[in-house]
This record gives sequence, C-alpha cells and structure tokens, in this order.
Amino acid sequence: MSYNLNSPWRDDFPVLQTKAHGSKTLAFLDSAASAQKPQAVIDAMDDVLTKGYSNIHRGLYEISQNLTQSFEDVRKKVASFIGASSEKNIIFTRNTTEGINLVAQSWARPTMKAGDQIIITELEHHANIVPWQILAEQIGIVVKVVPMRKDTTLDLEAFKNLLSDKTKLVSFTEISNAFGTINPVSKIIEMVREYNSAIKILVDGSQGIVHRKVDVRKMDADFYVFTGHKLYAPTGIGVLYGKYDLLQSMPPYQGGGDMIERVSFKTGTIYREAPYKFEAGTPAIVEVIGLGAAVDYIVDNSMDKIIEHERNLLEYATEQILSIKGLTLYGVDDLSRKAGILSFSMDGLHPSDIGMVLDQCGVAVRSGHHCAMPAMEAMGIDSTIRASLAMYSDTSDIDSLINALHKVQDLFG
Ligand code: ALA
Repeated sequence: MSYNLNSPWRDDFPVLQTKAHGSKTLAFLDSAASAQKPQAVIDAMDDVLTKGYSNIHRGLYEISQNLTQSFEDVRKKVASFIGASSEKNIIFTRNTTEGINLVAQSWARPTMKAGDQIIITELEHHANIVPWQILAEQIGIVVKVVPMRKDTTLDLEAFKNLLSDKTKLVSFTEISNAFGTINPVSKIIEMVREYNSAIKILVDGSQGIVHRKVDVRKMDADFYVFTGHKLYAPTGIGVLYGKYDLLQSMPPYQGGGDMIERVSFKTGTIYREAPYKFEAGTPAIVEVIGLGAAVDYIVDNSMDKIIEHERNLLEYATEQILSIKGLTLYGVDDLSRKAGILSFSMDGLHPSDIGMVLDQCGVAVRSGHHCAMPAMEAMGIDSTIRASLAMYSDTSDIDSLINALHKVQDLFG
C-alpha cells in the first residue's frame, strides 16, 4: 500500500492513551457515537474556566465582555467553516436533535396544515424521524418515507415519486450513521428544487460535517444541522444553519432571557432578531468555546488531509474485515460513496455478545440499532456491530479489531 495509514494527529487526543480494563491498549472505534477531544479543545475550555469565566451578553466588566467577544467569534468561525454567508445564519443549539425539533416546532408547525406532507427516508437517525412523528400527532401532517435498497442507498426514483403538491419539507441525512452511506445530497436537492422550488429542505449533517467538506451555500439546503460532540467538540453544543429570511420569518422556539429586546406586561414582549431569538437562556458558553477550538483544530490540520486519511483507512479496514469468514459487511461496495463507518454482523452470533468480547480485548465499538431502527428493519436485521473511524484512528485500531474478531470466532466457533 502506497499511503501512510498512521494518523499524524493521534497524540493530540489524550484519551487514546487510556488502557482498557487496566492493561489493554484502547482501540476506540466508536467515534460515530461521539468523538474524542483533542488537547486544544480541552485547553480552550479549561482556559475559560480558569482564567476568564462569566456569563455573556450581560456583563459590562472586562471578563464578560471578552468572553462575549470570543463566543460571538465562534459563530463567525462556524459560519466560515460551513460556507454560510453570515454568522447570523448560525443558531447555537444543544445538538442535532434540538436543531431538528426547533425546525419542526418553529418552522413546520406554524407553516403546515393537516394533510401536508414531509418526506424523510428509511436511512434516518431517530432524531430525524420522531420530531416529525410528534408533529404528525400534533397537527395531522403526513410523514412519507423514501425506501432504501439492500445496499443501503436510497431509491431516488421512489424519492421523486413521493414528491407532490402536498410536500412542504424534505428532510434527509447527508451520511447514514448506521451504515456510512454518503447520500447524493446535491442530486437530491436539485431534484426537489426542480419539482418545486418552494419545498423546504433540511439536511442532517451530524456525520456529514465530520467526514466531508460542507458548503451550505453550494448545497443550497434551507436548513443544515449538526452536533459538536461528533466533531471533536464537547457535548451540549450543536448548530442549526438556516437561510436568514427563513429564520427571520420563524417564531421563537423557546422563550426566556437573552432572546428579547424588551419585556413588558403593558406593551408586550419584543424578540431579538435571528439568530438570538432562538437562543433563550444562558447558552452553553464553555462548550461554544470548545466548538470554536475544534473548528480551528480541524481547519489548521486541513479537512482535505483528514478526509484522505479516513478514506485510506476505510479501504484498509474494509479489506481486512472482509477477510473474516462468516462476516457480513453492510453498505455500499463503492467506497467513494461511504464514510468511515463499518457495520457488520457475524453468522450465528448476536452483536451484543460480539461487542462484549471486543470490549474485553480493549476494542470499543457500538452494538445495536444505532438509533436507526427503521433502517435496520429495512435490512431485515435487528442490530449490527459498528466500527467507526475518526481522524485519530489508524491501522493499530483496525488490527486490534480484526484480532479480537478472530478471538470471538475461537470462543463461539
Ligand atoms: N447518533 C449516535 C450514533 O450514531 C449516538 O451512535
């Protein structure tokens, strides 16, 4: 193999030095669930807490003003990272789930009426299913579902056929968290726009933001959502990007402090403009700073290089995993359509039993339905083992996984 599969960034992630069960080298292959944090992110958060913490947007004193500035700088950084035209397009949320619920309740609920339709797909994470089912219960909208094929790609012909004059929103994932399938986002958006340019489009970028270069303007989605913790940032912070006129037209999601211009019992309450009207209460200040540090870290280390490393490692991992007898690897064969997520099962063995043995060997993977039960159902399975890669993953992780899978076979074989 001509490329180098060692991650040049591995030592930046202190957790990877941890020993599993006291003495085993940790092979962390569960980054699709949540990624490890580089020292730069830990330091940035630590610095705030030790050198200049306060609330923001409120204090007239130095540390509050400085932190307000740093917080708002992160909004600019995120805008530039995803190709948004302005920081005003960026709403800080708790995570992807909150971003989608915000669109469901603040855009869809006041805009749609009973009988109107939302199209999602069988590949979705529960976060892009349940908010729409709740809305269906609340106001009688109809959720239509694009079927997936056995190779985990979407049936685009069926997608096209679901579009109708009742369709008001199309919401789909950029990359499947369960199988790693990269959806043809631009093609889908083109198809929807061609059918009816008034249909709104939401893209769930939870995995996409980690494994691809995102340009929301080029993509032309109306909404793009992602979470920080899969992008090497802390938990509790996510982003909802929205086209500005759309955000301005939407009512607030939650009410409280910081999202208002003025509150009065006499004259009523006036909200701030977007994005602030969607950020009620004290935000996740330290986590936003952590997100800014994560974005800096990725930009400094080059998204192109990260993508190339993960692609090469995916090729190596696929080759290795396919050498194991009795193992079924799900997903597309064409690796240019797949991110670093390997979902598989082994003949006659339950994924949770496999997961337990792997854990004993120091290999951390996710076993289960990956919060994508309909996708599992469509494949005729309950669960899989999922090994997911990140910028810090390397051959040693894959080799540990393969050795551990041989142990599983020796034990249960
Ligand atoms: N959504 C996360 C996953 O895919 C938790 O595992």
